[in-house]
Order: sequence, then C-alpha cells, then structure tokens
Amino acid sequence: EIEGGLRPKWMADYIGQENVKERLNIYITAAKQRNEALDHVLLYGPPGLGKTTLAHIIANEMKGNIRITSGPAIERPGDLAAILTNLSENDVLFIDEIHRLNRTVEEILYPAMEDYALDIIIGKGPSARSIRLELPKFTLIGATTRAGLLTSPLRDRFGVINKLELYTTEQLTYITKRSASLLNVFIEEEGAIEIASRSRGTPRIANRLLKRVRDFAEVKADGRITKKVAIDALQLMEIDYLGLDHVDKKMITTIISNFCGGPVGLDTLAASTGEEKNTIEDVYEPYLLQLGFINRTPRGRIVMEKAYKHFNIPYSE
Ligand code: ADE
Repeated sequence: EIEGGLRPKWMADYIGQENVKERLNIYITAAKQRNEALDHVLLYGPPGLGKTTLAHIIANEMKGNIRITSGPAIERPGDLAAILTNLSENDVLFIDEIHRLNRTVEEILYPAMEDYALDIIIGKGPSARSIRLELPKFTLIGATTRAGLLTSPLRDRFGVINKLELYTTEQLTYITKRSASLLNVFIEEEGAIEIASRSRGTPRIANRLLKRVRDFAEVKADGRITKKVAIDALQLMEIDYLGLDHVDKKMITTIISNFCGGPVGLDTLAASTGEEKNTIEDVYEPYLLQLGFINRTPRGRIVMEKAYKHFNIPYSE
C-alpha cells in the first residue's frame, strides 16, 4: 500500500470535499440510527483524490470491514459470488474501476445490490433451476474516473452518487502539513505551499512529492523542509511551479502549433500527441481545465490566453 499510514481513518480527519463529506455524514448517521446498512455509493472523479480513502472511512464509520477489489480483477461470476457470500452485515465491498466489470459479472451485481440476493443456476439444460441465496446487508462502493463510463442499469442501482473535485492549494497545503507531521518531518508553511501548488489538485501527488522532498532534505540539507529545500528538490525533479510536466506542455503546444489554438477534438489530440484518450481525459484535462489553460467547447478543446503566457508563446486574438 503506497499511501499507507497517511490515509485518514475517520471523516473528521478527511480534508476537503466538504459537500461530499457533509452528505455522507448525514446518510451514515441516518443508516446507523435505523440500524441499516448504508445504501450503495458511487464515487467518481480524477485519480488520486481519495476515493479509496473515503471507502475505508465509510467502513470504519459504519463499524464494518472493507473488502477491496477492482473491476478487471473480477473475471468470472463465480469470483464475485465468492466475495459476496463471504461478506458480513454492514461490510463495505469496494470495487475500484467499476466501469471495467464484464457483462456477466455485472449481472450478478444487480440482484445483490437491489435485494441482497445471489441468484445461482444449478444444473444444465431442461433440469436447470435457479436458487436464490440471501446475502448480508452490505454496502457496495464503486469508484470510477468518469461516471459516464458506467452502464445505466449499474449506475441506477447506486443510491448515493458523489463527484470528487480537485483540491485547492490551501487544502493541499493542509494535507501536506498533516502528512509531514505523520512522517515526523519538520516542514515550513512556505515549504508545504511549494509542494501543494505543484501537486495538480491531487493529494496522492502531494504525498508523493512530500516523500521525495524529504529524501532531498535528509541528504542535501539538515532534514528540515524549508521553502528553499522544497524549491530546490522540486526543481531537481523538473516539476514546474504549477506542477506541469512535459505531457501537459506537449498538449498545449500541439494545439497551438498544429491546430491554431483549437478547437481540436479528443481523437485528433490523442493521435497527434501519442497519448491515450483516457489518460488525456482523466489525468491531463481536469488539471488544465482547473488552471484555465484550456476550455472545452462543443467543437473541441481550445487553448486559453493564460497558457500562452505560461509557456511564453505570443498570443493574438
Ligand atoms: N491524505 C490524502 N488525502 C487526504 C485527505 N483528503 N484528507 C486528509 N489527508 C489526506
């Protein structure tokens, strides 16, 4: 587990996603008051924002256990049936990349979600019959980078659907300081801000950069993360002050020089940069949109003036 000890275990320690937290706290409290399992929850949004962390927190708050798997890991209906029959009341079943479940597995999930039931077929041909097994009242938490990738019968079976947003620099500064304290490393406010502002709105990136800056601080300085140590370490990693890398730069400069600044469609952009469509949509676009470097129009992506300025490219209307 990469993020290991840095994950908050309770809702009260989870920073950001205020609306999501407030809603979930209400539904969790209501479910506990009624002595029921929490309804099934779909979490979607860019990678690294804390979908798995929230699933752990929900399981803790509901006093259940969590069982973690992923869409591609469940190959056959029997794999899912084995998982479902081993759950206890109030347990959380977390399925990451839930949009990648195959059709036959997904069909097992429908009665499991709706009626806490597992329909299994015994025998073959004319003598085949279906028996229904009761399942414990569990909570399915599905995670995906984009809700639009789910089939509608699956999406319709989630009682709670929440979108996670990119974090602000202030929230990431707070998360970075919290993580530094858990790692027992001193960090200056300005050092935390340097890390936070280059983390693309993403706690997973902030925690990763923090660990590398700590390495640098221990080897090249006295172990303390000052503003200067953070800047020097991040510069060595070739992360610019907004956290942009060469792929961001390639996307922006490709749209500008090959397509006159856009609009350009996703397929064309993927083909001309050599990046995967999904990676562009899930990883690169959300942050460039948040920065106001690109905009989405019905006819495709366009580069905004701010991006020209950042990359020192002359802009003309
Ligand atoms: N670590 C990673 N994500 C976090 C969050 N949202 N709140 C607190 N610590 C975190």
